[in-house]
Amino acid sequence: MKLDSLIPAPLRKPAKPGEGNGAKGAAPADLKTAPPERPSDAKRIAERAVEAPVDVLAWVDQRTAASGFLTGLLYRKVPKGTNWFYTLGSATLFAFIAQAVTGVFLAMYYTPSTTQAYASIAHINNDVFLGQFVHGMHKWGSSLMVILIFLHMGRTFFFGAYKYPRELNWVIGVVLLILTMTMAFTGYLLPFDQRSFWATVVGVNINGTAPVLGPYLSDFLRAGPEFGATTLSRFYAIHMLLIPVLIAALITIHLYLVVKLGTTAPPWLKAKLPEPLEKERV
Ligand code: HEM
Repeated sequence: MKLDSLIPAPLRKPAKPGEGNGAKGAAPADLKTAPPERPSDAKRIAERAVEAPVDVLAWVDQRTAASGFLTGLLYRKVPKGTNWFYTLGSATLFAFIAQAVTGVFLAMYYTPSTTQAYASIAHINNDVFLGQFVHGMHKWGSSLMVILIFLHMGRTFFFGAYKYPRELNWVIGVVLLILTMTMAFTGYLLPFDQRSFWATVVGVNINGTAPVLGPYLSDFLRAGPEFGATTLSRFYAIHMLLIPVLIAALITIHLYLVVKLGTTAPPWLKAKLPEPLEKERV
């Protein structure tokens, strides 16, 4: 595929007179030679088909100017010394996406009712095609996301990335951490077996010990004074609707700020000062 074909037609550099094969192109060297054979229809259609994806992208790009935005996003400069620790944020993002995708498939078979929840999970594990695999990915993925988010937070802390001008991104990160922990907590109840039931009773009671707001918080989580059917519905709604939407929105703002502010250089790299100041540095 010619490189030129990657650029939308209106943006291509026009050929100079005497060059190229357009109307103003150079005359054939020898007019007596036979003109090149016209390609067959099938060949022309095949050539167009190969270019179709690029044409579609160019069509969208002419109407959205998205390529400028994406170029700025993907080709932005990163500081010297950027290393593997900087991938922990993206790894957390990947874990969140994996949780969202596997969660959608689990929601297709899960029943949030006290009498059927356990049976529906058993059905997913025993009968549904790849059910145990997807359930396993979701279950282990939740622990992975929690581990990754802590490692990412550790990286930003030890590299001093929470300092000016990135304080707001740190605060957004703290909210993301709380929301991620809440996802793990609310998800744990959903299988509704003995372990998840009693662990959640303990968790809700611990929440209730917080000063002033504690009792209101545990009432809200239980959806009333008793632990029961309404609690399961409440946890399910929080787990699969409320928090994922909040996390997705906050990640968008978090990443906007990362792109806008750039990432911090590792703390062991010192910026080079202008010559006279560099000499004075101790
Ligand atoms: C769902 C959770 C999160 C996702 C998907 C996420 C994603 C990212 C990504 C992709 C980056 C840029 C690359 C990198 O440094 O790894 C980043 C940077 C950053 N994140 Fe997060 N993050 C999350 C949670 C957190 C948490 C919990 C904190 C701290 C409490 C935090 C604080 C920061 C800060 C301060 C930066 C800027 C780093 C710098 O300038 O060097 N993030 N985040």
